[in-house]
Amino acid sequence: MSELLIGGVEASRIPPALRVLEPRALASWVYDLDALDQRIRRFRTAFSAIDPLIAFALKANALPAILERVRAAGLGADAGSIGELEIAKRAGFDSARRVLNGNGRTAEEAIWAIREGVAVVNADSIDELRLLNAHAWQAGRVVRVALRVNPGIETPGHRYVATGGEDAKFGIAPDEALEAWAARSRWENLQLDGLHIHVGSQVVDVAPLERALDTALELAAESARRGAPLKLINLGGGFGVDYGGGSEFPLEVWAAKLSSRTRETQFEWVLEPGRWIAAPIGVLLAEVLAVKERGGRRFVVIAAGMNDLLRPALYHARHRIVPVLALEGAVTPATVVGPVCESADVFSTEVELPPLEEGDVVALLDVGAYGAAMSSNYNGRGRLAEVVVSGGKVTRARAGETPEDLAIRVSADELRVEGGWYFSDHLTAIDAGPIELSDLAGRIRSGDLPDDVFISRDGENWDNAYKFAEMLTALPLDRERIIREYLEYGEAELGKVDPGWAWERMQEILESAPEVAWEIVAELIERAPSEDALGYFAAGPLEDLLSDHGPLFIDRIESLAKRQPKLVRALRGVYRMRTTDDVWNRVQRLTKGEEP
Ligand code: LLP
Repeated sequence: MSELLIGGVEASRIPPALRVLEPRALASWVYDLDALDQRIRRFRTAFSAIDPLIAFALKANALPAILERVRAAGLGADAGSIGELEIAKRAGFDSARRVLNGNGRTAEEAIWAIREGVAVVNADSIDELRLLNAHAWQAGRVVRVALRVNPGIETPGHRYVATGGEDAKFGIAPDEALEAWAARSRWENLQLDGLHIHVGSQVVDVAPLERALDTALELAAESARRGAPLKLINLGGGFGVDYGGGSEFPLEVWAAKLSSRTRETQFEWVLEPGRWIAAPIGVLLAEVLAVKERGGRRFVVIAAGMNDLLRPALYHARHRIVPVLALEGAVTPATVVGPVCESADVFSTEVELPPLEEGDVVALLDVGAYGAAMSSNYNGRGRLAEVVVSGGKVTRARAGETPEDLAIRVSADELRVEGGWYFSDHLTAIDAGPIELSDLAGRIRSGDLPDDVFISRDGENWDNAYKFAEMLTALPLDRERIIREYLEYGEAELGKVDPGWAWERMQEILESAPEVAWEIVAELIERAPSEDALGYFAAGPLEDLLSDHGPLFIDRIESLAKRQPKLVRALRGVYRMRTTDDVWNRVQRLTKGEEP
């Protein structure tokens, strides 16, 4: 074994140099920025024919020193959270190069994306379209959106990194996406012309990606046939690296296939590589803390643990482990473990290593992606320093955390919980002290309540929550206002009136008092002054009602439909959403005028 070099620098020289700044540092992450540049260049060259926006997946590694290179090399940033959006902005990625991913969109992220700008948001559900549309409408902007489609493509490898299978939590079904694209004029403030597919990570074979591409092209063609042509296809990331003894994803082969398959098409392309770009440029250096024999095995305990590099414990991933110096002596198997109090804190059970002693340094290879990014403070361990090497120069790019840093993060700040009403055995108004339900009802009627009353779904106290909701929703003012706002919105062309308040209120009512929601919907349909208004309600609250409580109301809908032709017309505008097959079939029978 020869001595390990990182960017031309002897790895063995780095720990003592770091200890000048951090005397207690026994482990650290080290990245080769010149190698990073080379990988980016290779990636860009491979895909140059389709000229994609290459959005580096920040979840893999968001160290500012790395992002600076990534940005300077012309890549964009794929963010999966508000934190990563902020990081992307601070690292200088402009809005046209930011992509937003994620399957739990928060209002805060939506507002950020709309205000600060992103090239495209990958939406993970139909509800997310509403959220984005509502906020874009409020801001008077249009946001571009791609639908994340889950084509049911299985990828080999650990199931925790496969995302495209039928049962994965990500994305929506292809049919649902087709329906949404075709109905896209409903979301006036969205430019819904994109498709996103990401089938999994650490893919080393082109087959799953080819299947994803087939699906994408078929869906785009089908959507065009249905009158909603797509302009953007995002094929995600997932390109695998060789962690040792395996194989690397054949990047150039895939790029050539992709280019030739799509030569006749006019799509804008997005790719979101993380691991392929960053994994091979990073190593984790760790001192040997102890060596012991047990049960005929040699255990080597190192100063990095599963809190630092989680991949082996979480995915049974194996990273190569090598001594940084060319050590003398016979190479024999060893089990390399960390110091964390968990039996899963094992990096590898069969590593061929020369004799090692306390104080020797080993390197875990290919940890530049999902290494530091996934580290934690478990076992009271500070996150490790991150060091970059470029042009032979070694720089500490992020300081390690000390035990003192961790101890500082305590607080005793009393939280003032304002304007909220909290349920326990009886209702507790935080500001006013405990009050009785009947008393609360009186206060609701007299209007003596803060605006932002909310209902806590506290454990067993659903009964109270229901009663409370009923009381609130029984207010003539509330109900009348909801109906009025919907009526006005239904009448207003291109949404001159904001239904936001009424919509949000309806969502609460749907959740807490569905019967009241049904009454409101029935009344809205009854009072709809025009076909336009009817169409709007159909697409709105009626659809929500069917989605959330279809089985509960379908009987009543059927019986009312016999007397109320307007209800049938409203139902024609309903989009399927999450209703069950049974409910949906019955709705279709009604709209086609068949006897149920
Ligand atoms: N795009 C989306 C929507 C993703 O979910 C991911 C990764 C990527 C792009 C980047 O994938 P990459 O090119 O890096 O494979 N912590 C795991 C990997 C989780 C990947 C999550 N999503 C690991 O250490 O193996």
